[in-house]
Amino acid sequence: MHLHRLEKIWLSFGIAMLAVFLIVLGATAFGSGMKPPSEHHHAIDPTKVSETAPFDKPGLTQTGDKQYEAVLVAYAFGYEPQTLEVPVGSTVDFMITSSDVVHGFNIIGTNVNLMVEPGEVSHISHVFDKPGEYLIICNEYCGTGHEYMKTTIVVK
Ligand code: CUA
Repeated sequence: MHLHRLEKIWLSFGIAMLAVFLIVLGATAFGSGMKPPSEHHHAIDPTKVSETAPFDKPGLTQTGDKQYEAVLVAYAFGYEPQTLEVPVGSTVDFMITSSDVVHGFNIIGTNVNLMVEPGEVSHISHVFDKPGEYLIICNEYCGTGHEYMKTTIVVK
């Protein structure tokens, strides 16, 4: 009699533990399916570019040996930052977005030629194996200041 009651208690305890385990498992699975879409689609709110990392601090970061990440913001009519400088032989991983309309990102003398759309983050990498001053221009008509929209990368 006494043993039977103890068995019942242990059985209920076991069922309770199983239920807790299943709830935790379910919550974990549900949670992983609820990630914000920005992690998959590289979307950005164009009106909040100046407060959204890494675009709140445009510029160059060294990420490895001769490897750099360049974060740029295109706007009417210019690019932030105004100029970048890297050593010869550097690979630069560009991350660009627009804070207003569609712009271009064309590095003269290279095959880098992108469309930069508001709400999207564009990625492209380029190896700068020749020294010089590379001009970056906008090749999408974006308004009256379109032809003045430029920045430079100094490679030395
Ligand atoms: Cu920006 Cu044309």
